Amino acid sequence: MAEHQAVTIENLDGAGADAAIPALTGILRDVVANGASVGFMASSTPADFERFWAGIAEEVRAGRVLLFVARSAEGIVGTAQLHPIAKPNQPHRAEIAKVLVHSSARRRGIGEALMRAAEAAALAMGRDLLVLDTDESGPARRLYNRLGWTEIGTIPRYALMPDGRDCGSTFFYKALG
Ligand SMILES: CC(C)(COP(=O)(O)OP(=O)(O)OC[C@H]1O[C@@H](n2cnc3c(N)ncnc32)[C@H](O)[C@@H]1OP(=O)(O)O)[C@@H](O)C(=O)NCCC(=O)NCCS
Repeated sequence: MAEHQAVTIENLDGAGADAAIPALTGILRDVVANGASVGFMASSTPADFERFWAGIAEEVRAGRVLLFVARSAEGIVGTAQLHPIAKPNQPHRAEIAKVLVHSSARRRGIGEALMRAAEAAALAMGRDLLVLDTDESGPARRLYNRLGWTEIGTIPRYALMPDGRDCGSTFFYKALG
């Protein structure tokens, strides 16, 4: 656990992930409603978001995903995931996914704190090469550059924005240690 400006970053176990599903559903709903391209469309429903988080809780229980949350006095306000790659020839690699901060809690360093927690956990488990991708025009691109990630390029039309417009994805890596 790490303290950051009255926000605590937690690495949840399976029971913690189950308990967090309602709050995480609310965050995903907020992030998509605010136009971020994070795997869902404007037409996605709370049931879709809840199903997604129930699947992640299952992955946490199976040890395939590390799920981080940022908890403030108001409750859970942000989240991030670390996915260690299961392939036998990539025991040193992991991916970061779904770095989400509720729109009411942004620009207070919570995104950075979540990233630092995920990177530290990766290093502690021997995963010293990290990869992620993000919307080419979203705020996360600046965050990752600021934290020393290397941009390797943008693939146009990789995904859709929630309103159906094309969204390019920018790919990054970071070698830790
Ligand atoms: C990307 C995202 C996670 C960043 O979360 P965040 O908590 O706002 O991140 P931080 O606060 O660490 O940094 C954001 C900005 O706030 C600034 N900031 C941090 N603490 C600050 C403070 N105390 N006062 C003023 N500004 C501050 C940072 O310098 C940064 O500025 P920049 O965007 O000009 O570089 C958030 O915007 C989000 O959820 N976006 C939608 C989902 C998304 O696209 N996720 C990425 C998917 S891979």
